[in-house]
Amino acid sequence: MASVSKGKEAGKDKIAELARRRGFLWSAFEIYGGASGFYDYGPLGALLKRKVEEVWRDFYSREGFYEIETTNIGPRRVFEASGHLGSFTDRAVVCKHCKSFFRVDEGVDVSEPCPECGGELEEAGEFNLMFQTRIGVPKGEIEGRAQKKSEGYLRPETAQGIFLNFQRLLRFNRDKLPFGIIQIGKAYRNEISPRKSLIRLREFTLAEAEVFVGSREKNNHPRFGEVKDKKLRLIPREEGGEGEKEKEKTIGDAVRTGIIANEYLGYHIAKVEEFLDAIGIPMDKLRFRQHHREEMAHYARDCWDAEFFSERYGWVEIAGMADRGDYDLSAHASHSNTDMIVHLQPQVQGEADKDKVKVKTKIIPHVIEPSYGIDRIIYALLESAFYEEQVGKEKRNVLRFKNEITPIRAAVFPLINRDELKKRARQMFQKLRDEGILVEYDDSGSIGRRYRRQDEIGTPYCVTIDYETLENDTVTVRERDTMKQVRVPVAEVKATMILSGG
Ligand code: ATP
Ligand code: GLY
Repeated sequence: MASVSKGKEAGKDKIAELARRRGFLWSAFEIYGGASGFYDYGPLGALLKRKVEEVWRDFYSREGFYEIETTNIGPRRVFEASGHLGSFTDRAVVCKHCKSFFRVDEGVDVSEPCPECGGELEEAGEFNLMFQTRIGVPKGEIEGRAQKKSEGYLRPETAQGIFLNFQRLLRFNRDKLPFGIIQIGKAYRNEISPRKSLIRLREFTLAEAEVFVGSREKNNHPRFGEVKDKKLRLIPREEGGEGEKEKEKTIGDAVRTGIIANEYLGYHIAKVEEFLDAIGIPMDKLRFRQHHREEMAHYARDCWDAEFFSERYGWVEIAGMADRGDYDLSAHASHSNTDMIVHLQPQVQGEADKDKVKVKTKIIPHVIEPSYGIDRIIYALLESAFYEEQVGKEKRNVLRFKNEITPIRAAVFPLINRDELKKRARQMFQKLRDEGILVEYDDSGSIGRRYRRQDEIGTPYCVTIDYETLENDTVTVRERDTMKQVRVPVAEVKATMILSGG
């Protein structure tokens, strides 16, 4: 029996080391000394990330939401209107001695010693997180004059691109509410002190859904019945009094008692949990925390964070769910002088109603938004899938990814290094690749070493070709977590893998 170690020490830098060594994650610009807050995904990291994004797309497409893709750069006016230029700020403190900057709400306070050198900290004011750039040739600059209209910004969230296209999206949806739009893409924030791996990046991937709904309909989600009995670990905001406590409540109860503001928000909080469960985030490490009023973003009326318990970093927000009200559409309507109104068709109640003059109601829809940080989710997946086990005299590292997201689906080995076995193994490898299954081929080193190599990148199956294969067309399939081996006909190999999820 394997003994398992997954304690804080065991997991600590081993995950970062494994991620670097096996091609999941590399510091960006490494050959130039790197830069804080920027990471590149290597081949396996890029595959893992793509799988997570595919499951996410599929999940929201089943909600009936369409995906769009909007620009990463926008002109100044967009972010003046959205409020990001005025309000998207964090408070910073600076060390008088080593000059390091820190964001105030990350457990660092001006009254404490500098976390880097122990020196004295002082207030450094509010810092806007927007990255500024220029759009086009700055004519003013050529003539020696500043010119405002060439000022551009990298988007801090993908949501704005969806709001800006609201009229067109409404037409696309035949002028009816509600509807949801999703977008996956890069977001940029010039974070004050990005020191925590994928948790705090300056360039990261957001997966966001913007759900447009009439304010009066927010308490009437057509599929609320499907989620109302789901129990969640909630930490509601506590105003004055006893301090915050975790409560286990059904979504139905939380909405009914006003802890969660409305059915739409409740429904989407439940969906966030369902998605995170589907990709393998351990449910005993997940909770939902409501924001304090002063903590909420400038656009939010109510906001909940899905938090993952990291052995290394403590509770970390991995997704946020906000009721943004009509803040964004109203702001863009007034700044751009554009109509963001929906003309709702009157409801015909019955025969008696038929001849009445039907007046359309004009409303600005509200927005419910689940917003996922894909990189933080990738970190959470790596940390929670990582196990270090003692097997006999040997140690093995395993990434116990769910089959749905694992980068490599299977590996094919010849048992020993003989031409006839290698040939047969290569044939099988190519056939599985041709059928669209991502497999690896490996014939170097002992079979035990080859198993270990696959275990530590999370490959769920290893298929071994031996002399019996040449005689009766059967192979052994070895499963990653149990390390059990079964002999199966070649014709059944694909089904064994496909039937096991993903
Ligand atoms: P935090 O309080 O940790 O800065 P936030 O409240 O600013 O996060 P949101 O604005 O709600 O985060 O962003 C939505 C999601 O984007 C978050 O749930 C998180 O997963 C992710 N995210 C935010 N900032 C970063 C970052 N700097 N690096 C990586 N992911 C991030
Ligand atoms: N779009 C949500 C956020 O950036 O916070």
